[in-house]
Amino acid sequence: MSKIGIIGSGLIGRSWTMIFVSYGFDVHLYDVVPENVTNAMKLIKEQLDELEIQGLLRGQLNAAAQFGHVHRAKTLADAVSDAIHIQECVFENLELKKQVFSEIDAICSNTVVLCSSTSCFLPSLIAENLTHKSQFIVGHPVNPPYFVPLVEIVPSKWTDQDILKRTDDLYRLVGQKPVVLKREIEGFIVNRIQYAILNECYRLIEDDVISVTDVDSVMSDGLGMRYAFMGPWETAHLNAQGMEEYFAKYAQGINDVSRTMGPVPMMSGDTAKLIADQMNGIIPESKLPERRQWRDQRLIALSQLKKKMN
Ligand SMILES: NC(=O)c1ccc[n+]([C@@H]2O[C@H](COP(=O)([O-])OP(=O)(O)OC[C@H]3O[C@@H](n4cnc5c(N)ncnc54)[C@H](O)[C@@H]3O)[C@@H](O)[C@H]2O)c1
Ligand SMILES: *[C@@H]1O[C@H](CO)[C@@H](O)[C@H](O)[C@H]1NC(C)=O
Ligand SMILES: *[C@@H]1O[C@H](CO)[C@@H](O)[C@H](O)[C@H]1NC(C)=O
Repeated sequence: MSKIGIIGSGLIGRSWTMIFVSYGFDVHLYDVVPENVTNAMKLIKEQLDELEIQGLLRGQLNAAAQFGHVHRAKTLADAVSDAIHIQECVFENLELKKQVFSEIDAICSNTVVLCSSTSCFLPSLIAENLTHKSQFIVGHPVNPPYFVPLVEIVPSKWTDQDILKRTDDLYRLVGQKPVVLKREIEGFIVNRIQYAILNECYRLIEDDVISVTDVDSVMSDGLGMRYAFMGPWETAHLNAQGMEEYFAKYAQGINDVSRTMGPVPMMSGDTAKLIADQMNGIIPESKLPERRQWRDQRLIALSQLKKKMN
């Protein structure tokens, strides 16, 4: 089976590894700290075994067979040579990512996909000075990628169409749900939408319209219920006799309400403190790991439900 190189063996590097081996790709995992690969391989084995016991393992192969496709790359060159796709997962630091890709650039083929998992750096900022910049692209996953399938594919203006298509095909093949940006933009799409929501939630607290817990409930008990299954356009389409009627009926109201929304807030000062105090009251720092487990259990159950219903 084809080879995939993963650079960086932290949370996201391990997740990509598990996703790619689920389909039987040979993953070669590299980290600048060798013990981190040792540790990552141990964690991956434990997680694959646990997923198998829980009936949550992806793909057709059993856990032992999948783990058989995880290999340690002793050097960066070991991970890169003969790979069809490189998925970079090092710390979110622009200088580091540029450095790592300039090292890869010096040794890689003219065909391999050079893909970064970056959450926020525009691809052109990483790729500008690479010889192989037409092979560079961003594939930004959502945590936890094993259960949340979305990946944002972000090309730069130099990215070859074939590289984009191969990245899209690869992610689909292993069961992720890629979406393709037509051009790079700050925040990509996930964070632009997430920030629009955060900004309005912030203004509603600042203007003392609703409590912190109630505004969270608007999402988790209301809007979020349907957004787990359909986006805002389909929601609108179904809420009227189709889009034409929706726009005819609601465009004016949407515009009127939207113009009452305040300017982009800077999230600091009294309101930020109020929100932080309330959230710390509900979930103190000591309870964060427990609550993350609670969240992941629900995401797993939801992803199972979605699979069953499709
Ligand atoms: N954690 C998330 O929720 C999330 C979600 C989407 C995307 N991302 C992105 O994925 C990337 C990785 O994030 P993470 O959460 O896995 O980080 P992490 O801190 O868990 O892991 C980073 C790993 O990179 C390794 N590393 C550092 N320098 C290296 C080098 N020069 N060569 C090889 N390996 C090196 C470190 O040893 C570490 O194991 C970041 O760009 C992050 O923004 C993270
Ligand atoms: C290696 O792993 C340790 C422990 O998980 C982590 O703190 C560290 O950031 C990793 N990488 C490097 C380069 O130190
Ligand atoms: C590329 O190299 C030029 C010339 O050294 C430099 O000015 C520019 O900042 C570099 N671009 C990036 C994104 O690092």
